[in-house]
Amino acid sequence: MERKTPLISPEDLRRQEEISDYIKTWWQGQGITPTAYVETYGCQQNEADSEQIRGILDRCGYGFTDSAEGADLVIINTCAIRDHAVQRVFGNVGALVHTKRRHPGQKIFVCGCMMGNPEISGRMKNSYTHVDGIFSPHHLWQLPEHLYRVLIRHRKAWAVEDSAGAIAEGLPVIRTNNLKAWVSIMYGCNNFCTYCIVPYVRGRERSRLPEDILAECRELIAAGYKEITVLGQNVNSYGKDLGMDIDFADLLASIAELEGEFTLRFMTSHPRDASHKLFDTMAAHPKIAKQFHLPFQSGNDRILKAMNRHYDRAKYLELIDYGRSLMPELVYTSDVIVGFPGETEEEFEDTIRLIERVRFDALFTFIYSPRPGTPAAELPDPTPKEEKNRRFDRLLQVQNTISEEKHRAYIGKTLRVLVDGKDGDKLTARTDGGRLVRLAGDDSLIGQFIRVTITDATTWSLIGALTP
Ligand code: 5AD
Ligand code: SF4
Repeated sequence: MERKTPLISPEDLRRQEEISDYIKTWWQGQGITPTAYVETYGCQQNEADSEQIRGILDRCGYGFTDSAEGADLVIINTCAIRDHAVQRVFGNVGALVHTKRRHPGQKIFVCGCMMGNPEISGRMKNSYTHVDGIFSPHHLWQLPEHLYRVLIRHRKAWAVEDSAGAIAEGLPVIRTNNLKAWVSIMYGCNNFCTYCIVPYVRGRERSRLPEDILAECRELIAAGYKEITVLGQNVNSYGKDLGMDIDFADLLASIAELEGEFTLRFMTSHPRDASHKLFDTMAAHPKIAKQFHLPFQSGNDRILKAMNRHYDRAKYLELIDYGRSLMPELVYTSDVIVGFPGETEEEFEDTIRLIERVRFDALFTFIYSPRPGTPAAELPDPTPKEEKNRRFDRLLQVQNTISEEKHRAYIGKTLRVLVDGKDGDKLTARTDGGRLVRLAGDDSLIGQFIRVTITDATTWSLIGALTP
């Protein structure tokens, strides 16, 4: 099989670099070091994209600031997954009218998943006339060109044409954290879960070549990074488009075999494609964190079918049990949606029963939000909002009790953790399973793997003490 994914050609990438250099010289010619403010909404994939945006802007001569006020350039990287996120972005972009009035030279770009949806990007273009440019995730690599058009040609830049998407290798990156790095291994999604807008805004699944991913991981480890999280909307389908003899478990194993002291994490997985081989690989490699984020979305088979998830409750539980049979300490987390159109009380109870059966360490819980253009948005949805809120609160209550019980079970245990920062006067650290630990200790421990004994626990975190 031939590789299906088009790569952006080196000539096209070089051209963007030339434009970046031109913009840098243009600013220098005016004796100005311009500042940029990048604001990110949504998931880790967007965070990773913003790191590339910062890398490109750095090449264009920009320094960075942490407020839109007074910045020469504002870039808002948006999320479209739920209506709430979309409305927040519209509100915040609207408010930029004022910062621009106070600093008339300010240029404003809006990018990310919202701009991958024609209705939303159309509304941004037509109603927010202070916005200078918009670009969808497919057009991120052309940022220098968009900037050139706005800054030098005094035109608006609209880059939202639909495409299946390509891969741009070797874009510059400025990472916000020097211990933990995100590495995208693939982009897009082919699953078309009926509630989800992602496949429409991020295009089809396309995998980076293993050698490019390994080279990036090697560099990160050499630069002192202690945690690598490989990212994709559905990492379990990694490689299917490559026409090579490699799957996600193989890729994970080859990263885990790299020299150096680091923890390897991954997200997000789809139960349909999560294989026993992946669990076997996790169990066999000490550097792969014993944490699995496996979204189940609903505990009811009729709802799972209506969501187009391609697995049932029994298959999900079989995976959970298989993982635990190999790794009793495995930490499971998950995503769940409450109030999918037509969900009955009894069907919701199946979700509660699944939560009680699995006993996740933590859950990301969402109330269904209709996304225009997706099949589920066309379904009748007779359940009142108040009823959905009630189900949501009940679910949270059940999960919070479980989270607290699971956390309390850590008390007295001694664990290896990576100290990753500070919060108030306490150090923060993560266990191998990704649980947050707070402890007293010297700042010099930040960046080190240490052993702590857990002395107390809450619903959301563990309290630890350095083990002598
Ligand atoms: N409404 C509510 N939650 C959603 N998610 C995705 N689309 C929607 C939607 N329309 C949730 C899913 C997914 C997580 C990232 O967001 O649980 O796993
Ligand atoms: Fe959305 Fe489903 Fe793809 Fe996840 S797997 S991004 S929920 S369509």
